[in-house]
Amino acid sequence: MKKALLLLFVFIFCNQIIVAQKETTVLSIKNTANAPTINKNIYGHFAEHLGRSIYGGFFVGDTSKIPNTAGVRNDVVAALKDLKIPNLRWPGGCFADTYHWKDGIGPKEERPTIVNQWWGGVTEDNSFGTHDFLNLCELLGTEPYLAGNMGSGTVQELADWVQYVNFNGKSPMSDLRIKNGRTAPWKVKIWGVGNEAWGCGGNMTADYYAGEYRKYATFMSDWSNTGGLMRVASGANSADYNWTETLMKNIPGNMLGGVALHHYSVIDWDKKGDGVDFTEDIYFRTMTQALKMEELVTKHSAIMDKYDPKKKIALVVDEWGGWYEVEKGSNPGFLYQQNTMRDAVLAGSTLNIFNNHADRVRMANLAQCVNVLQAVILTDKTKMLLTPTYHVMKMYSVHQDATLIPLTFESPLYTLNDKNLPAINISASKDAKGLTHVSLVNIDSKKENKIEIDIKELGIKNVTGTIITSTKLQDHNTFDNPTKIQPVIFKGFEIKKGKLEITIPPFSVVTLEGK
Ligand code: AHR
Repeated sequence: MKKALLLLFVFIFCNQIIVAQKETTVLSIKNTANAPTINKNIYGHFAEHLGRSIYGGFFVGDTSKIPNTAGVRNDVVAALKDLKIPNLRWPGGCFADTYHWKDGIGPKEERPTIVNQWWGGVTEDNSFGTHDFLNLCELLGTEPYLAGNMGSGTVQELADWVQYVNFNGKSPMSDLRIKNGRTAPWKVKIWGVGNEAWGCGGNMTADYYAGEYRKYATFMSDWSNTGGLMRVASGANSADYNWTETLMKNIPGNMLGGVALHHYSVIDWDKKGDGVDFTEDIYFRTMTQALKMEELVTKHSAIMDKYDPKKKIALVVDEWGGWYEVEKGSNPGFLYQQNTMRDAVLAGSTLNIFNNHADRVRMANLAQCVNVLQAVILTDKTKMLLTPTYHVMKMYSVHQDATLIPLTFESPLYTLNDKNLPAINISASKDAKGLTHVSLVNIDSKKENKIEIDIKELGIKNVTGTIITSTKLQDHNTFDNPTKIQPVIFKGFEIKKGKLEITIPPFSVVTLEGK
């Protein structure tokens, strides 16, 4: 009898160990030979002439009481410099295919006024134009990414724009630039050729766009100034794999620097849900859309691999982020929304996906930078706040230009209403100074999760950490309480016998640094 009891005890005890082991997610490191560099351009941003993105967000004019440099808000510039933004896309978006760049150069009082047909039908006085944008990029130390107008523009107009900003010799366009006060060219390397050509950019078919692209790209000369332009083709809408296939098949590789992809985490285009007031079910649906990015980049990359096995052409996810109903009482055409812990989890998860696909995803642009959609900065007249998404992007900036450490693990599940999502997503890299960074997201809204990493294998002895978390998923920063959510020191880990055991709280984002 005693023996039977002992056996029963041993059985229960062993079972508990097995259960306990299962509750810890164990990370293994995949073969690191040939691991790609995480291109810093994955951490790019987007500034469209939309709502209060440019006017009131970046630009207040040089007569404003808000401290500014040549009309650009100093607080916004300082915050973005701190974020180390590698590139900034402008002037759209849908706006780009209505934008005629010559409207935005020369004396401001002589610039024509147009109507912003896509975004609220408001008056655009063109007071922020090419010089203002490129000078802003210089101030930020970021690379400009200009989106050319293919939809309502001409081949000549786009070719002239390239010449205007890039040509160092004597030409009609460089003379005009010099007349407008800028002698040295700016050297703009990254150029979009149209935007959402399947929709607001002209409702084109993939075949038609591919033909047009070849024509436009032909006349976009480099002017021997940038070491080769990176021309980015307007890419697929989410899972439109035929679009990518058609472009890759019909455009010669030497004419393509990148193929774009747009994917927004929206639960229903007709009923997008509130940015702040949302249920767990809606959170789960938003995260389902966000994690779909994994499948999208995998499948679009596989198509690109067929035509470009050496991976010379980048997959450029130049619009991504959460899209909700506009904040109550705001202009529906301005796409102004708040930014909660849901957005922090969304951003961390998306950036982990991009990092892990760094061999092909070499550029991405969060939509958008200031006051529009999943913004990193919100402004209200003189006030400015940094959103949870800003803090995640800053924590993740350590991965810029670092070498990916490929990982494998089996994620525990986050279950709601009989539906499952992987609860944990992670990416890791080693930077030029030899520091290892691991970014982890727990999307589970209720359960903490445990993760174990063999740090001996990574050559790490000391670990420090930062976390973004809060008490409610809906928590966010407001102009009255702008620092409710901000990164704090993370101590939820222990080192035991060369293993790092991390406990990551519900809906939080952690970055660890090991040396
Ligand atoms: O980011 C807002 C809009 O979303 C962009 O202008 C367009 O490209 C996309 O449909």
